[in-house]
Amino acid sequence: MTPEGNENALPAGAALRPVRILGIETSCDETAAAVVEDGARICSSVVASQNATHGKYGGVVPELASREHLRAIVPIVRQAVEQAGVEYSALDAIAVTQGPGLVGALLVGLTYAKSLAMALNKPLVAVNHLEGHIHAVILEERVNGRPEPEFPALALVVSGGHTLLAVAERQTAANEVEGAFSYRIIGRTRDDAAGEAYDKVAKLLGYGYPGGPILDRLAKHGDPEAVRFTKPKMRVTKASKGDALDFSFSGIKTAVLRYVEANGMAEEIARRNELRKREPKPTLEQWLAHSPPKTLDLVASFQRAVVDDLVEHTVEAAERENVNSIFVTGGVAANSLLRERFTKLRAASPPIYFPRFSLSTDNAAMIAAAAFPKFQARRFADWNTPPDASLALEGTRPINTAEAE
Ligand code: KG4
Ligand code: ZN
Repeated sequence: MTPEGNENALPAGAALRPVRILGIETSCDETAAAVVEDGARICSSVVASQNATHGKYGGVVPELASREHLRAIVPIVRQAVEQAGVEYSALDAIAVTQGPGLVGALLVGLTYAKSLAMALNKPLVAVNHLEGHIHAVILEERVNGRPEPEFPALALVVSGGHTLLAVAERQTAANEVEGAFSYRIIGRTRDDAAGEAYDKVAKLLGYGYPGGPILDRLAKHGDPEAVRFTKPKMRVTKASKGDALDFSFSGIKTAVLRYVEANGMAEEIARRNELRKREPKPTLEQWLAHSPPKTLDLVASFQRAVVDDLVEHTVEAAERENVNSIFVTGGVAANSLLRERFTKLRAASPPIYFPRFSLSTDNAAMIAAAAFPKFQARRFADWNTPPDASLALEGTRPINTAEAE
């Protein structure tokens, strides 16, 4: 399915009706499929979470993730196509996440997408997962019929696997292809991703996996000023470039561990671990009953430190790059304090955009949406396209018309 080899796969009259792309996402622990029209209308979006499988281990177990994807991929894709109310033959392309992510997990989605594309004689579009998160923001605006965000945009992509700041540019003038994008990463985490820090701290404190949603809810019941965490050393100054915008979250995770040791919290943590064994999904009330005030203060202070760091870096980067919009996306973009802080900034900053919660966390609608401009430019993937666990966002080259011919 080289761009040349796949020309025939383009359905006749594709331009006369909406372009329907089936997106498939299996980069981590969600098996997802969605049908999106013209990168703007979500006909269906189905997500099967593996939280129940990984929960007891306190994090994603790669081998189990691959097995769960294998189990789920066929019914989830079928459900997405059925819910969209279309026949497989009415799809114009199959889009799939190529990377970054867990290689075994990616392989399941990519292999299934290739098989489907081959069987249906449809083009295959390979999508970078991070590009998908960025396009979730554009999709949200289109779904709501709002004007397109202005570029260049600064994207804070913040999830369980990634924390980065990227400048996204729209390349229309440069190569005359509608909706072509290029990306430049200006800051990334040097160790843990922000979501990973949430997950590790939650595991350490006995709150289970995934950690973000529960710590977010508990943080509202604690004092964010109670515990002071030292900021990571990568100072952000107006004059500094490059690494100054990098993030580091492992220090704060270690600080929480020290606090736990110094404050003799082993017993209460054991009680919470017991609660999770009895109750697979404890309610907020149950968690609160098992969380002394000092622990809630620790959680609130942790959340405050992480959010402060994310917001400060983003504000600095937006100023430095003089961008016209700010996108906040990825699983951690669901965080209530992060949203509150960015919302408060709105008056004094370029417009700030978030996708709705279901588009912030991993989903396949964002993959189908990111594939749309590639489909228009006929940038199709080859049968030999491999999964790429560390696929770089910059590697997602701007679309070049010459490539499609
Ligand atoms: O984007 P995503 O679904 O998957 C990855 O690409 O990693 O993000 C999942 C991450 C997990 O680490 C989870 O703990 C975190 O997002 N997360 C949150 C919240 N909801 C999910 N972190 C903080 N606050 C939340 N409300
Ligand atoms: Zn993600």
